[in-house]
Amino acid sequence: MEKCLAPSILSADFGVLKEQLELIDDAGAQYVHFDVMDGVFVPSISYGMPVLKSIRKYTDRLFDVHLMIVDPERYIKDFAEAGADIITVHAEACKHLDATIDLIKSCGAMAGVAINPATPVSTIKHVLDKVDMVLIMTVNPGFGGQKLIPYTIDKVRELCDLCNKLGVKIDIEVDGGINIDTIDAALDAGANIIVAGSAVFKGDVKANAEALLEKMR
Ligand code: DX5
Ligand code: ZN
Repeated sequence: MEKCLAPSILSADFGVLKEQLELIDDAGAQYVHFDVMDGVFVPSISYGMPVLKSIRKYTDRLFDVHLMIVDPERYIKDFAEAGADIITVHAEACKHLDATIDLIKSCGAMAGVAINPATPVSTIKHVLDKVDMVLIMTVNPGFGGQKLIPYTIDKVRELCDLCNKLGVKIDIEVDGGINIDTIDAALDAGANIIVAGSAVFKGDVKANAEALLEKMR
């Protein structure tokens, strides 16, 4: 599977967001990761459809929308219309995960499912053949700049092995605490989509993104 960098704009400078998008574009990042938070599913609030809509015209990179919200089925159509290419919902936030995945695909987006650190990989076993991507949270969701939780790397390996056993080819994304020191462990375990917020947007954005992309070659 192709290795892609998905900078999370959660840590970007929103005062110059267009310019920051150009920097990650120039570096070669393939995705833009949007961390949508409602203050209920996670203890923080971020942004929603208006931000997606406003920057869609500035880049053709894949918009990777991570919904950290309760009952996400309420907003799937809105995010698809705002320009989302992938919409990822949390298994823990869905009453009817199988149906919500169908809804995402019916809205023309690729479907992702995310699990928090303490949620077993087996929870999503029955939908692996329906999704395009699985997001393994490598921190407890809600804030950028946290430290990676080591046991989550074992979950990446467990998921990769399960996909191979089931014969399904899906992208495996990791999100939280990924930086120049932790990226190798995530890649070695089988992750191929790398979310990085503070490791990209704190400091020299283009150089940070290029350094992570270099590790992915
Ligand atoms: C929820 C968010 C963060 C963010 C990554 O917590 O999903 O994990 O994307 O933040 P960093 O890369 O700064 O840990
Ligand atoms: Zn995220």
